[in-house]
Amino acid sequence: MDTIIKVAGISKKFVLHQQHDVTLNVLSEISFEVRKGECLVLAGRSGAGKSTLLRMLYGNYLTETGSIQMRHDNRWLELVGANPRQIMAVRRHTLGYVSQFLRVIPRVPTIEVVMEPALLRGIPAAHARRRAETLLARLNISERLWSLAPGTFSGGEQQRVNIARGFMVNWPALLLDEPTASLDDTNRRVVLELIEEAKAEGSALIGIFHDEKARTKVASRLLDMESEEINHV
Ligand SMILES: Nc1ncnc2c1ncn2[C@@H]1O[C@H](COP(=O)(O)OP(=O)(O)OP(=O)(O)O)[C@@H](O)[C@H]1O
Ligand SMILES: [Mg+2]
Repeated sequence: MDTIIKVAGISKKFVLHQQHDVTLNVLSEISFEVRKGECLVLAGRSGAGKSTLLRMLYGNYLTETGSIQMRHDNRWLELVGANPRQIMAVRRHTLGYVSQFLRVIPRVPTIEVVMEPALLRGIPAAHARRRAETLLARLNISERLWSLAPGTFSGGEQQRVNIARGFMVNWPALLLDEPTASLDDTNRRVVLELIEEAKAEGSALIGIFHDEKARTKVASRLLDMESEEINHV
């Protein structure tokens, strides 16, 4: 039923060449599927490999074994071994990613940082701007900041700009790496609402949440990264 992401048997090890070739086996034989409208929450201690797994799904870290299939353009696309052009197309149309920190591009105003995912999809600028303004206002980013580049913003402000950007379009699949970290209660609630809205619109979400309350609120299922078992909430 409406599966968007299928992961089978992926593993990750890091070889630290500058440190006597020490090998870190971070992930071994991870498999799961995520369907439309649900949120799979990655659980496990710090260092268990949660962020690593999201980076592999987004194509920032290489995956050497196993399979990552994504529903893209009405067909299944294998991302392991996909070429950079295919990865870019997936990032433009199918897969969003809210990383832990905003990647700031110097001199680009906040409003444009937020609008970009919509413009890349060909959504008209006026429409994109209205959506960006609505999101920034909901996330309590003061209007006087919208025309400024976010480089000098506080950690929490940058994270909220990052979230606004991440929720700019209706992604078929969306990865969230601790989107509620460093936010106050009011803004945390807004993020949880945005997540619920994305689920209701049929996005397949994979998220990491340190905050227990946030985790239980959004999780449809938990993937325990220690035992690699899927637990139904
Ligand atoms: N590029 C890299 N090179 C070497 N080791 C790495 C790299 N990226 C991650 N690691 C290692 O992989 C392990 C898992 O890291 P990861 O960031 O995925 O953990 P996490 O589960 O997200 O932890 P946290 O809850 O603290 O964010 C860590 O031991 C980390 O040192
Ligand atoms: Mg992490």
